[in-house]
Amino acid sequence: MLGLKLATDPRWVNIVESNIEEILTDHAWCEQKAATNAITIITLNSEHTDLVTELLELAKEELEHFQMVHEIIKKRGYTLGRERKDSYVNELYKFMNKGGNRVQSMVDRLLFSAMIEARSCERFKLLSKRIKDPELSKFYHDLMISEAGHYTTFLKFARQYGQDVDVDTRWKELIEFEAKVIQNYGKSETIHG
Ligand SMILES: [Fe+2]
Ligand SMILES: [Fe+2]
Repeated sequence: MLGLKLATDPRWVNIVESNIEEILTDHAWCEQKAATNAITIITLNSEHTDLVTELLELAKEELEHFQMVHEIIKKRGYTLGRERKDSYVNELYKFMNKGGNRVQSMVDRLLFSAMIEARSCERFKLLSKRIKDPELSKFYHDLMISEAGHYTTFLKFARQYGQDVDVDTRWKELIEFEAKVIQNYGKSETIHG
C-alpha cells in the first residue's frame, strides 16, 4: 500500500485495544506534529504560492484532526496527556540531507512528510479494519482517506519542485530506509509504535 515495503503485524491492533487512552493521546500529538510540519514547510518555501495555498489547507485539516481526537478523548472521560515523542519519526528524520542545497532540502522534507502520511495511512487502515470499537473504526477509516490525500500532495510537490533532483531515486531510497526503521516497531500502543 502506497509503496510501503513492510506491512504492520495485525497483532499491533490488539496492543492498541488494550490501551485506548494512550493511543488517543499519542494520536492527538501526531496530528499536532503534522500541522506544525506543514507550517514549517510553508515557512521555508514561502515563494511557491501553490504550495503555500495547499499546505495551508493541509495544516488546517491536521489541526481539525487534532481537534477531532481531542473531542473523542473528552467524550470518553479522558484528559489529553502530555506531548508524546515519536521515535519512528525521529529515526526517519535522519534520512534527510541537511547539508544539501535548498531544493534538495525541500524535496527531502516533502518526501519525509509523504512517508509519514503513507505509514499513518497504513496504520489507520489496519485500525479501521480490525478494531472492535465501532466509533473508532469509522473514525480511522475517514482519517485514512484524508491522510492518503496528504501523501499525494507531498509527493506531487516533491516532483514539481525537484526538477533538478532525481526525486524517484530519492523516494526509493527513503522507502528502503523506512522498511529498516519500521522493522523494530509494531509493538506498542502508539500510532507509529
Ligand atoms: Fe491528520
Ligand atoms: Fe496528514
